[in-house]
Amino acid sequence: MSVAPRLVILDTDPGVDDALALLYLRARLDLKLLAITTVFGNADVETTTRNALWLRARLGLSAPVHPGAAAPLSRPRGRAPVHVHGENGLGDIDLSGRDLPPPDAGAAHDRIVELVRAYPGAVTLVAIGPLSNLALALRAAPDIAGLVAGVTIMGGAFGRGNVTPYAEANIHNDPEAAAEVLAASWPVTLVPLDATMACVLTDTAAHDLARDGGDAGRFALEVTRGYAAAYARHEGLDGCVLHDVAALVSLTAPELFSPRFAPVAVTTEGERAGQTAWAAGDSPTRVLLGVDGPRLAEHFGQAIASAD
Ligand code: BDR
Ligand code: CA
Repeated sequence: MSVAPRLVILDTDPGVDDALALLYLRARLDLKLLAITTVFGNADVETTTRNALWLRARLGLSAPVHPGAAAPLSRPRGRAPVHVHGENGLGDIDLSGRDLPPPDAGAAHDRIVELVRAYPGAVTLVAIGPLSNLALALRAAPDIAGLVAGVTIMGGAFGRGNVTPYAEANIHNDPEAAAEVLAASWPVTLVPLDATMACVLTDTAAHDLARDGGDAGRFALEVTRGYAAAYARHEGLDGCVLHDVAALVSLTAPELFSPRFAPVAVTTEGERAGQTAWAAGDSPTRVLLGVDGPRLAEHFGQAIASAD
């Protein structure tokens, strides 16, 4: 008996690991991509939207791409992490030679509202960038909180952060938006750095994928070279971290994760801005604090290779 695929809107700031998340989505028949909504983060929003359009063409996807927030809700945009994702946001691979269409009609947060209302109870929002679009959607239409199947977020850090000692990038990029999204009464799953830093695609695995994993494997190796070099330089890692892929795998292979249920607050002021911390209150978040990282990386490789 085949089960209907889960409907997903991917809110994203591509981004090298965002590109890997799209590769994974393409491979999974149990996930149906309804729309790609873009946000600033790994680059400015014009660049992340161009990257989403480029990835859609490169990977043969058909979902619409809707441009979203260019800046946080209430503060200036921080500097883009070009030392991690490259000047073009996709590891400085060659993006020339493709005629890209303009983005699809409709702003990201409007389309999120329309699609959630069109498929009540069925849409999972997967946010792998700053949470500005989700917060704007909630502000415009608070009823969507009761209409989503769930909200899965790559973000937060309960141990060490990655942009400051306290904060993870997606939350740090728009702490006010994150605070609103985490305070709303919808079912949120947070996949924080504490888990994602264990999800490493090693250099050996990436080269094996390029050899045995068809076009998807070759693309995964190509797009991750600069990103892996940055992780080697800054973290001493052999390989690159599958942050955004982990958010999607939490939907398809939840048994790889260990959850904790507790309310989460976001600090919005001072040097700890963007920090996530356990809080009091009665709207618990499902926080996936632990993961079997090697199994997740292996699962990712098998999924993208077998789809080609
Ligand atoms: C998150 O920040 C971005 O740089 C990555 O794409 C990921 O979504 C990791 O902190
Ligand atoms: Ca991202």
